[in-house]
Amino acid sequence: MPLFYQQNINPSTKLAVWQITEPEDFFTQTVSLQRIITHPHKRLQHLAGRYLLKFLFPDFPNEEIFIADTKKPYLPYEQYHFSISHCSNYAAAIVSKNQRVGVDIEIPKEKVLRIAPKFLSADEYEKFKIRNSKFETATLLWSCKEAMFKWWGWGEVDFKTMLQLNFSALTDAGIINACFVHPKVYATMQLNYQLFENLCLAWVCTDV
Ligand SMILES: CC(C)(COP(=O)(O)OP(=O)(O)OC[C@H]1O[C@@H](n2cnc3c(N)ncnc32)[C@H](O)[C@@H]1OP(=O)(O)O)[C@@H](O)C(=O)NCCC(=O)NCCS
Repeated sequence: MPLFYQQNINPSTKLAVWQITEPEDFFTQTVSLQRIITHPHKRLQHLAGRYLLKFLFPDFPNEEIFIADTKKPYLPYEQYHFSISHCSNYAAAIVSKNQRVGVDIEIPKEKVLRIAPKFLSADEYEKFKIRNSKFETATLLWSCKEAMFKWWGWGEVDFKTMLQLNFSALTDAGIINACFVHPKVYATMQLNYQLFENLCLAWVCTDV
């Protein structure tokens, strides 16, 4: 059972990362596909994400998941808030009974440096270059913004101006204070991040 990482964030919020080594039928014994996915690896990633929801909370009602127009999956009665991410052979999920959540995982790659000025504000980009211009760090800043984007869930977000990260020194694991500045919502939150050897994880949970 290749559970890669698990964190019980508080009594009602849990997070896990799974390293996918199993064949599809391992996951389909517990969960089913929610839509037709023809690409076998994408199908496996989707199933592993859904599997993690039940792994974290066995009474999670997978069969009640709806998909919004923005593609955000949600439970109409909000018994749980949840967020899913997958990348390469990993899947991650965060599930909470009473907090809004967002999670993202990424494999750090050098090419993120090319797009960093597109998702970081001028101030963030300057700070990133002065303090540490490693591609691993750029990946984790991207991952934090993706987790915020999923926490919000309703799309129409300008990453540069609406997702603001207030970071100074960045180590392999820590917290970044962040601001979500949207015409409909203003919220402050803390982004939690961790850099593993070849995987970057970022997540957020805030009170509803
Ligand atoms: C939706 C998005 C966040 C998915 O991210 P990704 O890295 O491609 O894929 P991940 O594996 O991390 O996440 C996929 C999961 O996110 C979830 N998801 C999809 N859309 C979502 C949304 N709008 N809100 C919350 N969660 C969403 C789903 O659970 C999906 O997995 P599933 O279909 O198997 O259930 C991404 O495609 C996106 O649109 N990002 C914003 C792009 C953007 O505006 N960029 C501008 C920056 S310059």
